[in-house]
Amino acid sequence: MAPHALLVPFPAQGHINPMMQLAWKLVSHGFLVTFLNSDSNHNRMLKANTLNSLRDNIRMISVPFQFPAMDTPERLANTMELLEKGMGPSVIDQVVQEINAKEEENKVTCIIADVWMCFGLQPVAMLHKVSLAFFHTGYVSLFAILHITANWVSHGILPSDGIPKEDKTIQYLPSMPPLHPGELHRYWAGEYMFRKGIRMAEEIKHTKWMLFNSFLEIEAPVVETLSKEVGVYPIGPLIAPEFLKCTTSTKVQPSFWKDETECLQWLDKQCARSVIYISFGSSTVLSEKQVEELALGVEATQRPFLWVVRSNLMRGSKPVLPADFLERVRDRGYIVSWASQLEVLSHPSVACFVTHCGWNSVQESITMGVPMLCWPYIADQFLNSMYVVDVWKLGLPLNANSQGILEKGEFVKSVEILLESKQGLEIIEESRKLKIIARDVIEEGGSSWINFNLFVTVMKRPPNE
Ligand code: UDX
Repeated sequence: MAPHALLVPFPAQGHINPMMQLAWKLVSHGFLVTFLNSDSNHNRMLKANTLNSLRDNIRMISVPFQFPAMDTPERLANTMELLEKGMGPSVIDQVVQEINAKEEENKVTCIIADVWMCFGLQPVAMLHKVSLAFFHTGYVSLFAILHITANWVSHGILPSDGIPKEDKTIQYLPSMPPLHPGELHRYWAGEYMFRKGIRMAEEIKHTKWMLFNSFLEIEAPVVETLSKEVGVYPIGPLIAPEFLKCTTSTKVQPSFWKDETECLQWLDKQCARSVIYISFGSSTVLSEKQVEELALGVEATQRPFLWVVRSNLMRGSKPVLPADFLERVRDRGYIVSWASQLEVLSHPSVACFVTHCGWNSVQESITMGVPMLCWPYIADQFLNSMYVVDVWKLGLPLNANSQGILEKGEFVKSVEILLESKQGLEIIEESRKLKIIARDVIEEGGSSWINFNLFVTVMKRPPNE
C-alpha cells in the first residue's frame, strides 16, 4: 500500500503555490497525493487552464466553498470565520471517510495541512489513525513570534492582546530584531487575525512535524531555539526544479489567472539586468491615485519595465492608468495581467523586483538572486519586508508618505539607489550569494534536503510507530 497524503492548503493563491510544490515532492518520493481545493478556486484554475500539467500525478478534489476577497483586515477576518465552517474539521473528516470508503487499497495515511487550517484537525487524525503534519508557507521567525507571544500570554507575561503596558520594543529571541509591539497587529492584519494566530500557535504548540517554506541558513538561531519545543523542519525553497535548472518549464503554477507568456519574448529583447519587474501578488489592491503615482514613477526612471496589473488590482473598477501613459512608455514598458513570475525572475534581463513582499515572492526572488524594492501591503508582508531589508540585506524599502501613498519621486530615488549606488551594489552582491545557498540547500545533503527526507521516511511508517 503506497503512502497517501491528503494535502489541505489554505485556499488562496499564495498558499496553494507552495503546497503544490510540496505535493510534487511527495509524488517524487512515491506518495499518492490528494489535494483539497475549494470549488471556487478549483473552477478558476480550470478556467485558467493551469491544472493540465498535473495529469494523474496529483488528484485534485474540491469541496463547496466560495472564497471571498481578503484584501482588508475586515474581509480577511470574515474569510477566516467562513473557512472554519466551509473547509473545517468536519469537512476534512468527511473527505477522508469518502476516500477510504472508495479506496480500500489506497486509504489516506497522512494529512498535511496549512497551519491556518489546523483548527480541530488533531481529533480527525486520531479518529482515522493517520499521521498529521502542518505546513507553514512562511518562514520560521514569523511563526516563532506567534509561538512566543502565545506562551507569554498564557503565562501572564503579556496581556491577552500581546501588547505590553509600557511602550517599548520586544526582543522575542536574541537573534531576532526587536519589534515594536504597537506594530504587532499590523503584522497580523489587525487584532482578529492576531488572536486567531495565537489560537493557531496554541493548537499546534506540541506538534512533532511542522514544515516551513524556508531554509535553515537564513534563520538558523531561531530554528535551533524553536526546535526545542516544536518539530521545526524548513524544507524550502519550494520551487519547481525546472525553474532552478533554467530549462523551459513543463509544470506551470496552479494559478487562478492565465500566464501571458509573450512577455518572456519581450524580456529576451531587453539588455541584461535592465528591467524593473513590478508585481504585487494575487490580492493586493491599490487606489487610483497610487496606481497613477507608480505609473508616473516607473515612467520617470526611463528604464524598461514589466508590470503585472491584475484585472482586480483596483477595488471596484478595472485598473485605470494615467492618460496616454501606455502611449508614452510603448517602447520600453510591458504590461500583463498575470505573468509566469518564476520565469520572469529567472530571466537575465531582470534587474530588480518591486514587490509587496508576499512570502512566495520573497522566496522566489531570493532563489533567483534578484534584489528587491519592498512595499508591503498587509499582514506578514511588513515583517517580511523588514527581514529582507534589515536582516538579510537583500533590498531597500519603498517609503510611503503620510497619506500612505508611495510617491513618484521616492520610487525613482529608490530605483536609482538600488541599481546605481555602492549601497545598491552591496545588495545585488548579497542577493547573488544567497541565490547560491538557496539552491544548494535543496540538493542532496543540503539542510532542506535532509529535513524533507527525514519527514518522508517517518510519514511512510504507520502513524503510531
Ligand atoms: C499571500 C501573502 O501575501 C503572503 O505573504 C503569504 O505568505 C501567502 O499568501 P500573495 O499576496 O498572493 O500571497 O503573494 P505571494 O506570497 O507573493 O504569492 C503570489 C504567488 O503568485 C507567487 O508564487 C508568484 O510567483 C505568483 N504570481 C504572482 C505569478 O505567478 N504571477 C504573477 O503575475 C504574480
